[in-house]
Amino acid sequence: MDRDISRNAINWYPGHMNKARIMMEENIRLCDLVIEIVDARAPLSSRNPDIDRIGKGKGRVVILNKSDLSDPALNEKWRTFFNSKGIQAVLLDSKGKKGLKNVLPAAKAACAAKISKDKSKGIVNTTLKAMVVGIPNVGKSTFINAFVGKNVATTGNKPGVTKGKQWISINKELELLDTPGILWPKFEDQEVGRKLAYLGSINDEILVTEELAGDLLFQLYRDYPQLLEARYKITADVYDGDDGGFSNPRSRMLDHIAKSRGCLKKGGEVDYFKTAGVVLDDFRSGRIGSITLERP
Ligand code: G4P
Repeated sequence: MDRDISRNAINWYPGHMNKARIMMEENIRLCDLVIEIVDARAPLSSRNPDIDRIGKGKGRVVILNKSDLSDPALNEKWRTFFNSKGIQAVLLDSKGKKGLKNVLPAAKAACAAKISKDKSKGIVNTTLKAMVVGIPNVGKSTFINAFVGKNVATTGNKPGVTKGKQWISINKELELLDTPGILWPKFEDQEVGRKLAYLGSINDEILVTEELAGDLLFQLYRDYPQLLEARYKITADVYDGDDGGFSNPRSRMLDHIAKSRGCLKKGGEVDYFKTAGVVLDDFRSGRIGSITLERP
């Protein structure tokens, strides 16, 4: 299906993107490290590769957020992938506040060179300054709130250093800029747009959810058939059908789910819109299982 779901998906336009980029580049200048939040269910599609350029020369930490919803086996593979690129990677569930204790050690490891340089100059207590960045909906605000916890202490305007920026002191070793930097997804890539739509990061109102749910089931049957069988009793019989491949496996799976969930209109016709809602909702809330949509 080749509808263009990415172009107008998120309300970004070049002027808007430029402004966000300039602001981020200015803010990053004040920081020692960049804490990039990605969605662990699609760690590549949910990042903007420009961050490698924008964050050049800074300590780098990637947070694989929402790891409570992603595939544990692939979480480890993704962590290894980022480590192999010289980026510290941390698995996190910001909503459930799990894994937060690993963030500070990762930040220190990412800035080991600066810390040892400071030491050689006689500075024993380096306070690292970090900026949180990511595309919309990956959990930047949830992370900042969880990480800061009850110990909110904005350090305010330190003359000459922060230029009016608000810094939140995590402890003596780390300060966070209070506003995250917003990156934009890779609009031009249809595959990226589709995955972000599955995750709910693109407003459903502008999407054809029936097609989206069909595509999602198609991918899940390929990657996680056992989960589809457990949740919806979708077996090879349902997928293959008995009409010699005349109908589409996507509609066969949707029909099957509609019937078992009672998503039918008056007269017994399948309500595809409602069925799609069930599937997307189940997927996004983790009820189908722990799923990662892409592999390193
Ligand atoms: P943003 O600033 O990057 O745009 O993202 P934000 O923190 O607003 O989070 C977007 C959604 O993702 C929120 O859900 C939030 O609760 C959820 N979320 C963030 N981190 C995690 C996580 O680690 N695990 C899970 N499972 N969810 C996470 P929402 O539906 O918009 O709000 P709510 O109903 O949860 O309050």
